[in-house]
Amino acid sequence: MSFKNLFSTGVLLFLCISLLSLPDNPDKRFGAYKYEDFKTPEYCGTSCHIDFYRQWKQAMMSQAFIHHWDEIEYFELAVPHAEKDPKVAEVKAGCNGCHAPMAYLAGNVPPPRPDKGDRANEAVACDICHSITGFEGDTPFNFNYIIKPGKDKFSTRGGGVKSPNHNIVVNELLKSGDFCGICHNEKSPYGIWVKSTHLEWKEGPYAKEGVQCQDCHMPKGQSKTASMSKVYSDARQHLFHGAHDPGKVKGTVELRIHPDIVEAEPGETVKFTIALFNQKTGHKFPTGSVEDRIVWMHVEATDSKGKKYHLKVDKKGFEGEEYTIGSDIFAYQDMGIAKNLPDFKGVQRDGIPIGDRIFRMPYFDPQGRMTIQQWNTAKLGVDYRIGPRETKIETCTFTIPNDAAPGKLKVTAVLNYQKLVKPVADFLNVPEDESEIIKVNEHSTEIKILQ
Ligand code: HEC
Ligand code: HEC
Ligand code: HEC
Ligand code: HEC
Repeated sequence: MSFKNLFSTGVLLFLCISLLSLPDNPDKRFGAYKYEDFKTPEYCGTSCHIDFYRQWKQAMMSQAFIHHWDEIEYFELAVPHAEKDPKVAEVKAGCNGCHAPMAYLAGNVPPPRPDKGDRANEAVACDICHSITGFEGDTPFNFNYIIKPGKDKFSTRGGGVKSPNHNIVVNELLKSGDFCGICHNEKSPYGIWVKSTHLEWKEGPYAKEGVQCQDCHMPKGQSKTASMSKVYSDARQHLFHGAHDPGKVKGTVELRIHPDIVEAEPGETVKFTIALFNQKTGHKFPTGSVEDRIVWMHVEATDSKGKKYHLKVDKKGFEGEEYTIGSDIFAYQDMGIAKNLPDFKGVQRDGIPIGDRIFRMPYFDPQGRMTIQQWNTAKLGVDYRIGPRETKIETCTFTIPNDAAPGKLKVTAVLNYQKLVKPVADFLNVPEDESEIIKVNEHSTEIKILQ
């Protein structure tokens, strides 16, 4: 065999091996692009779009692959699980369609870990959103974007606005919440809507009034859009602030608590009613990664001597209510699949005081156990979240204890929020800020305890 033949056989062999090692993916976009087809955010943001770049850099959009909890969930749960269970095998590539789109499009999955400095780290980069021309089908979900990287950058401002670097092509889709739905709606391999922020918005009052996602997450402000542009009164700020901005979460729901009687003797029963009004979100609260999030109401009374009593919420009797009241049972056993713990008994379901009301929607694995692995979700439970502009009414019936001190009894209702249920965060060693408790709001009332 001549050297030339040997060489081409070698090349052929190499090509075959590389093709074989590419994961099986029917999606034509997968592996059809190269990293070099996309500009880096630093390229866009160093001398031209400095402000937008700085804003984006502080938002979760730039962190979607490198953020520690994302790294843990993808590499320690999703990838090992996908390698063991053919039903969820698609997520090994699929998570990246939204979290590291460039790596997905380049067929580089799983991408190297964030500390390797791969371009997967650029996450939801400028040149991803601004190369999107549309989406496949009628409903935006599961990264069904149609993408065309190149000289044309798609945006919304018409009127002949020019850039010295690229073409500006108007795409009305970027003005609409439907654009966001491409990544903010997700269906599991079991066909269950496991993320539906866009669908919740679409059904709610804001979409009907024409209020878009952009109006709350990319508010209009007076600024330049590039260092050489003029000042616009309505430049779209790239804040993308959400659950990771305590200021955005605070005040989302307003609480008011009142008693049915204002004076009571020990042994007498008082009923406190709490109204919780969602004044701030355009979708449900909580939304997005609902499998991880927990919002709960804690009601506590303090007597005139400072002694505290915990008031449990009254049961309403609806189906699945047991998932909406703090309990000490165990759940999330399916983390044992990825972790190689066949008899894993799970961790505590809620990690909050027993008897507190929880506003959530439980996700269930194919075995009917509660899960935080949205890709392993075969069924959803009762949806007891607070819808946009919805008011939920709760009650706590309290029998005044015999040892309660006479005088003023102050009763406070607090609404708390946690991005990730604490027992899961502890089990997976997720950094503490992911399970910090954010106080959404509180309100107090008082009654008088008679002698
Ligand atoms: C290409 C996919 C993609 C598109 C399109 C997209 N997002 Fe996102 N977005 C993400 C990902 C992935 C994250 C998650 C970051 C993380 O890992 O926590 C995110 C995070 C966010 C957050 C922060 C959430 C938090 O927990 O703090 C907000 C707010 C947000 N997006 C709003 C929007 C809006 C508004 C639009 C439309 C203008 C939009 N997104 C379009 C993928 C996308
Ligand atoms: C998650 C998607 C997303 C990402 C990431 C993103 N943008 Fe945008 N950008 C948009 C949308 C949507 C609009 C138009 C919003 C509208 O008009 O309602 C926009 C508008 C703009 C505009 C025009 C603003 C105006 O008011 O005319 C510029 C310039 C821009 N983006 C630059 C950038 C740069 C630079 C980055 C990276 C640092 C970036 N974008 C990242 C979605 C994104
Ligand atoms: C009326 C204002 C408003 C509109 C409209 C709105 N949001 Fe939000 N959004 C909020 C507020 C307030 C929060 C913070 C509370 C929370 O986390 O739910 C939030 C939170 C979020 C989060 C973080 C959720 C989480 O738990 O990680 C995402 C993502 C998000 N919004 C995306 C969107 C998308 C996509 C749309 C359109 C389909 C949209 N929002 C429409 C006000 C709005
Ligand atoms: C259809 C797009 C999409 C797919 C597919 C997707 N995600 Fe996400 N993911 C998002 C968006 C958008 C958010 C952020 C905002 C929210 O909570 O709504 C998010 C949030 C998260 C978070 C929470 C981040 C936080 O800080 O709270 C983790 C962890 C995560 N995703 C991991 C994964 C894993 C692992 C997979 C694959 C099994 C996956 N995602 C698949 C869009 C997607």
